[in-house]
Amino acid sequence: MKIGIVIHSKTGHTAGVGQGIQSKLKEEELIAEYQTLSARNDGEMKAELIELEEVPSLEDYDVVILGAPVRGFSLSAVMKQYLMQAKTRENQPVLCFVTHQFPFPWMGGNQAIRQFKAACESKGMKVIQTKVVDWSNKNREATIASLIDGFANAVQGLRKDNEKVV
Ligand SMILES: Cc1cc2nc3c(=O)[nH]c(=O)nc-3n(C[C@H](O)[C@H](O)[C@H](O)COP(=O)(O)O)c2cc1C
Repeated sequence: MKIGIVIHSKTGHTAGVGQGIQSKLKEEELIAEYQTLSARNDGEMKAELIELEEVPSLEDYDVVILGAPVRGFSLSAVMKQYLMQAKTRENQPVLCFVTHQFPFPWMGGNQAIRQFKAACESKGMKVIQTKVVDWSNKNREATIASLIDGFANAVQGLRKDNEKVV
């Protein structure tokens, strides 16, 4: 099963969680390809003005994991622009997470996840799990651990379904 992880991260929070997912999958003998997004104008807040350095294709993956920070109570403009351009497949399973500074998900994280879901669904992808990491919440480490376990379990579930089909 081909697994792709694509992350936008500037200060490393989102990247750390994405790498945690990759390591967990590796422990379970699942190899995930990890790629990062970068933009020539990362500070730009308007998605339509973002200039991506590269646009990794998602087409070949059986499952995709996407992570991005919240910026200005929204999904990062870099991830939004990426989802406008990335090649995907109809019904492709995708798991999405965001990290943000505030302590509670309703302080921007939930809104960013709604945008993440809508952007993926508008491409025909199937969102199977989402999570918000509130960076200044005292339970952050437990949230990250549950995200990593939840995402790895969901990927394992898809793997088992794939094997049944073969
Ligand atoms: C331009 C900008 C806008 C931000 N806006 C928000 C925001 O609206 N809400 C929030 O909780 N955090 C906000 N943050 C903080 C980031 O979401 C948070 O630090 C995130 O975990 C950074 O992820 P990264 O280290 O992967 O880049 C903002 C950060 C930047 C640089």
